[in-house]
Amino acid sequence: MNSPNSTDDTPAKPATIVFAKSGKTITCAENELILDVAEREGILIPSSCRSGNCGTCQQKLIEGQIQYNNPDAAKDLEPGMILTCNAQAINTVVIDA
Ligand code: FES
Repeated sequence: MNSPNSTDDTPAKPATIVFAKSGKTITCAENELILDVAEREGILIPSSCRSGNCGTCQQKLIEGQIQYNNPDAAKDLEPGMILTCNAQAINTVVIDA
């Protein structure tokens, strides 16, 4: 029996990603990768390794907070840049894509 605080079957919280250049605002789950959401919506973000190694997918985070699947992958990025293949939006984020 699940307790009220169990996270096993709790649906992911919603998040909103604003793709500024594309003019699209997308609601998704907080645990979705930003690159996956962009591709699903037809927004072109270049990518290659999709595992946080190459840096091809980096984009500027204009506003908001993200979390990484693998925080070590982003340690060499310029300030304000994120790896979209590894990042998940928290609440509402604005991406320069
Ligand atoms: S696609 Fe290589 S770091 Fe994101």
